[in-house]
Amino acid sequence: RPALAMDPLAGLMVEEVPLARIAAAVGSPTWVYSAGTLRRRARMLKDALAEAGLDASIHYATKANPALAVVNLLAQEGLGADVVSEGELRGALAAGVPASGIVFSGVGKTDREMRLAIAEDILQLNIESAEEAEMLSAVAASLGRKARVALRVNPDVDAKTHAKITTGLTENKFGVPIATAPELYARLCALPGLDPVGLTVHIGSQIAQGIGSYRAAYQRLGELVRELRAAGHPVHRVDCGGGLGITYRDEIPATPAALAGAIKAGLGDLGVKIMMEPGRWIAGPAGVLLTRVIVEKHATTRRFVIVDAAMNDLLRPAMYEAWHGILPVSPSAFRAPLSPADVVGPVCESSDTFTKARDLPPLPPESLVAILDAGAYGASMSSTYNARPLAAEVMVEGARFSVIRDRQSYDALLAGQRLPSWTEGQNP
Ligand code: LLP
Repeated sequence: RPALAMDPLAGLMVEEVPLARIAAAVGSPTWVYSAGTLRRRARMLKDALAEAGLDASIHYATKANPALAVVNLLAQEGLGADVVSEGELRGALAAGVPASGIVFSGVGKTDREMRLAIAEDILQLNIESAEEAEMLSAVAASLGRKARVALRVNPDVDAKTHAKITTGLTENKFGVPIATAPELYARLCALPGLDPVGLTVHIGSQIAQGIGSYRAAYQRLGELVRELRAAGHPVHRVDCGGGLGITYRDEIPATPAALAGAIKAGLGDLGVKIMMEPGRWIAGPAGVLLTRVIVEKHATTRRFVIVDAAMNDLLRPAMYEAWHGILPVSPSAFRAPLSPADVVGPVCESSDTFTKARDLPPLPPESLVAILDAGAYGASMSSTYNARPLAAEVMVEGARFSVIRDRQSYDALLAGQRLPSWTEGQNP
């Protein structure tokens, strides 16, 4: 874990900044991201694609971590953005991603989102159904424009990941069945408001079962490209999606080089421009959730370590039974004897549990704890459940740190609410 280091005096550090220092300055819970790790991982992906000889661009899936400072750092590395809402589109633009590097994905783009995407002249919209194609064409035509689109194909391959994050099966809501793609692509070419530029696929997230499902998907996509071209249709780009898994515990996911190899094998000799939309692989290992022990509760059969972060901050364990590494921050804790503990938050739900029966040292009140690999789908999935303000976010670069998002204030938490001032709404 290159982002983390253990100093015998200062304890656990992100890059060269002790987490205890950040907790003292910013409080807890706090998300802490390593700029160096984000940058290094972006470069590793770029290098892997380049070494495979692919003409490729990377569009970071901002849903993984939409912090402006994160998206901006990745934009400086030359990455574009993959967005799924008006908010993410506005965020990407605000972070300095050029419109020409932005892809808009998602199964349900509203009329308003389509208008904004067309007005900003983003790189492409990924189309998920015949119905959506008709809607987008009408919107674009009404603006006197043609929207560049890629057709999202569902290749019906099993990514063998958690059921809640698999997307490439026929039963999933995403994309169009590959068998219907030729007919639909022809339809896209005929619609007045669309400029079809290629295909897109995304089979799931946290794919950690080797490279097989990728290979199968890209193989099928390559065959489809040939078929479409044989029918006289233009296919310039293939967006290969995201999904590359990371090691939370003991998973051995495919490497970027293996992924690039699978892309090359399936699509390499077609002269198409390759695009990718990774989120987790770039941001996940770059972040930790720093939290403070409120109290250690010794119940009849268990030791509960109750911390000031909760499921409203990091939802993944509650939602997907996800495993995250948990480390104490203080150097003395690293030398103390271990015993099983449940690390839980203060929210009134049994699923507000980060881990069960994990071997940890004694963690008295005020001890700091870091929950690892929380840089992706951490802050971005937070809520204010139990009226808990959104946590602060900090970026570390070498020996410096910067608050990139203030902890939400209680005023902000209550803002926008009022007691009713009624409007007549009776059926006339
Ligand atoms: N492209 C599309 C169309 C997607 O739906 C996603 C993720 C990505 C790219 C980025 O996938 P990644 O490279 O991050 O795997 N909240 C879940 C993950 C949901 C992923 C949704 N789509 C989690 O915490 O595991």
